[in-house]
Amino acid sequence: MEPIEQNINTLYRKQDIPDAALKEILETDIYDDLLFSLADKVRKEHYGTDIYLRGLIEFTNYCKNNCYYCGIRRDNIRLKRYRLSEEEILSCCEEGYRLGFRTFVLQGGEDPYYTDERICGIVANIRQKFPDCAITLSIGEKPRESYQAYFDAGADRYLLRHETASDEHYAKLHPLQMSLDDRKRCLFDLKAIGYQVGSGFMVGSPYQTTENLISDLRFLQQLSPDMIGIGPYIKHKDTPFRDKENGSLELTLRLVAILRLMFPYALIPATTALGSIHPQGRERGLKAGANVVMPNLSPVGVRELYKLYENKLCTGEEAAQCRSCLEQRIISAGYKAVTSRGDVIR
Ligand code: 5AD
Ligand code: FES
Repeated sequence: MEPIEQNINTLYRKQDIPDAALKEILETDIYDDLLFSLADKVRKEHYGTDIYLRGLIEFTNYCKNNCYYCGIRRDNIRLKRYRLSEEEILSCCEEGYRLGFRTFVLQGGEDPYYTDERICGIVANIRQKFPDCAITLSIGEKPRESYQAYFDAGADRYLLRHETASDEHYAKLHPLQMSLDDRKRCLFDLKAIGYQVGSGFMVGSPYQTTENLISDLRFLQQLSPDMIGIGPYIKHKDTPFRDKENGSLELTLRLVAILRLMFPYALIPATTALGSIHPQGRERGLKAGANVVMPNLSPVGVRELYKLYENKLCTGEEAAQCRSCLEQRIISAGYKAVTSRGDVIR
């Protein structure tokens, strides 16, 4: 056996290998078939062929931050901004519940309009109407007390990607006001409070090196998150990174497989960004070890406006269409769409 094949097998058996071995795997496509088949095997051992559905509600595209890569950054004055009312959010949940979703993901920019009081009100309302559902928040960096208040109101999960675990790289992707230390503080607070926590990063973001990716994997080992979301960086014309290259499908898939081998228990989505750079991106993600998909539940009228990057999928489809489109894709890849809450199995 070639040394790299041996390293892949060690990663499969021990969930870890040294940095130099990770680097070699990340930098060649020759062993992708082996990597993907082992990742698929590990996923099947832990979760069978079940793929969990999460109904995604993008409830505001206002954001006070100015990340250089993101289409809804504050300085994008060309974007029409929107906010969903509490009634609109609840009716998305009702529609989602009818379609079988038992997890609702409320995602938005960092929008000061949604004070803690408002967020808690919305969460408590969803919790009361849908006691059998998981409520996931993805609304950025907040003080610990705020996270605690949302949790007490009934939120169970929180998604906050660390984006990159290198301080130097972080500074190239974000304005000075933002820091990796703050991001980490948030993630560890969320864990301490008792949330199921999701983190992750973009693949092929501008200035990213293989060493940065290895730091991302090492940081995730420290954090031990329940969910890990990754997707290729995709450029957006109204950002400072408009001329930067997109991340690649292949490298993203390779990282999905590596994540599955390192974190066998993790819930790993085949992300919309993955589907947006390749027509079969999400199916390929599932086959490389992903086990979650997040159909869009946002009202069709606002979907076009929640554009973090160009060519984003599902902006025209009704929730029901998105649901059945994804179910077909899951079946065609050889898996089964399940509608349970889909909590992490540690
Ligand atoms: N390309 C790909 N992913 C992006 N995100 C933000 N902007 C982009 C982009 N241009 C990702 C970030 C963020 C998540 C919600 O979307 O990782 O955490
Ligand atoms: Fe939304 Fe296919 S997943 S239309």
